[in-house]
Amino acid sequence: MIMVMVLRIFLFIGFCVAATCGESYLKITKIVCETHPSFIHNHSCALKPVNRYKTFILMDCWIKTQLRNSSVNLALYVRNSANIYKPFVINATINVCQLFAKSTQGAYGKIIKTIFSRFTNINHSCPFSIIFGETILKSTKIVCETHPNYIHNHTCALKPINRYRTYIQMDCWIKKELTNTSVNFAVYTRNSANIYKPFLINATINVCQLYAKNMQGPYGKILKTIFTRFTNINHSCPYSGNIVVKNAYWDTSLLPVALPPNSYKIVLTFYEDYPKTNYGFVAYYIEYIDIKAKPRKG
Ligand SMILES: *[C@@H]1O[C@H](CO)[C@@H](O)[C@H](O)[C@H]1NC(C)=O
Ligand SMILES: *[C@@H]1O[C@H](CO)[C@@H](O)[C@H](O)[C@H]1NC(C)=O
Ligand SMILES: *[C@@H]1O[C@H](CO)[C@@H](O)[C@H](O)[C@H]1NC(C)=O
Ligand SMILES: *[C@@H]1O[C@H](CO)[C@@H](O)[C@H](O)[C@H]1NC(C)=O
Ligand SMILES: *[C@@H]1O[C@H](CO)[C@@H](O)[C@H](O)[C@H]1NC(C)=O
Ligand SMILES: *[C@@H]1O[C@H](CO)[C@@H](O)[C@H](O)[C@H]1NC(C)=O
Ligand SMILES: *[C@@H]1O[C@H](CO)[C@@H](O)[C@H](O)[C@H]1NC(C)=O
Ligand SMILES: *[C@@H]1O[C@H](CO)[C@@H](O)[C@H](O)[C@H]1NC(C)=O
Repeated sequence: MIMVMVLRIFLFIGFCVAATCGESYLKITKIVCETHPSFIHNHSCALKPVNRYKTFILMDCWIKTQLRNSSVNLALYVRNSANIYKPFVINATINVCQLFAKSTQGAYGKIIKTIFSRFTNINHSCPFSIIFGETILKSTKIVCETHPNYIHNHTCALKPINRYRTYIQMDCWIKKELTNTSVNFAVYTRNSANIYKPFLINATINVCQLYAKNMQGPYGKILKTIFTRFTNINHSCPYSGNIVVKNAYWDTSLLPVALPPNSYKIVLTFYEDYPKTNYGFVAYYIEYIDIKAKPRKG
């Protein structure tokens, strides 16, 4: 693992005492930011004076590539009589991806999580991205149906993350153990009459064989990646109990072909002993967003 410095922020803080009310303040007096041009572009960082004792920090930047495994080092320096800043007390490195993914990592993790949640739009787990010159497949609607003999108490919903991304959250309980499950993966595109028509992809894959044997072609690889990354189905059959899909999203890397700009519907239909029993389906409505084409807000 090579560590690359992506972004560095220096905050200069003055400790001042407001004589009038006897309170003390940590006033930020200067901010300096450095970014690595391969990862971040168009950064701005500034202080906005609020009153004599307080300044607000304003920062904005764009992530060029996906950040999948980001850490932050938090270090405190104190200025000595020779006007030199020396390391002082705090020097901690925290994996940011784990802050929102798992429970927090100790005292500094808690602090970083509080700062991120309160003041930034990084209030979710990795990856962090706005991919330029690439496309984002934003899920705009999700519809699920299940067969009551096989599945109960299903929920499926979208959680908005930012302008470009929503997370897919699903949860259900398997009533009858699934021992020979297949999934049909079909893509539809919306035509000018607003009707979704089958488009390019229509494949049925035996899910039990994904983890039991080696891959079954490109669709098998994709399904296995999706299941491993986003669900608790990361093992071979049988499947039983609680099935969870967490913080999932469609990504161009999860599709075997480059889709032209359009609106799509991806439908996963689940079968036991294909094609005997259809026990449910999930339909994802997807908008194709070309980030480069979007005007920048603010
Ligand atoms: C970044 O800055 C460049 C040059 O100023 C500009 O052309 C580009 O549109 C900016 N990108 C974003 C996302 O603001
Ligand atoms: C993520 O980074 C940590 C160090 O912060 C490293 O130990 C770990 O192996 C990395 N994980 C991946 C998936 O690269
Ligand atoms: C923090 O600790 C790391 C690893 O021990 C060290 O490389 C780094 O120089 C330290 N930074 C400061 C500001 O003390
Ligand atoms: C993250 O922040 C955005 C914008 O403030 C908000 O819409 C979203 O619900 C938040 N997500 C979480 C997981 O708190
Ligand atoms: C499913 O929902 C019913 C009714 O809301 C509830 O009684 C039952 O405990 C739930 N089952 C599970 C496994 O969550
Ligand atoms: C996919 O192919 C199967 C078998 O050929 C067919 O029954 C089904 O209607 C097709 N689905 C779509 C969406 O084209
Ligand atoms: C499957 O996921 C669970 C929970 O995330 C994890 O504990 C387990 O090690 C994973 N198993 C495999 C085979 O990857
Ligand atoms: C499992 O389902 C496949 C169809 O996907 C079928 O060909 C096969 O016979 C089934 N296996 C068993 C053990 O029922």
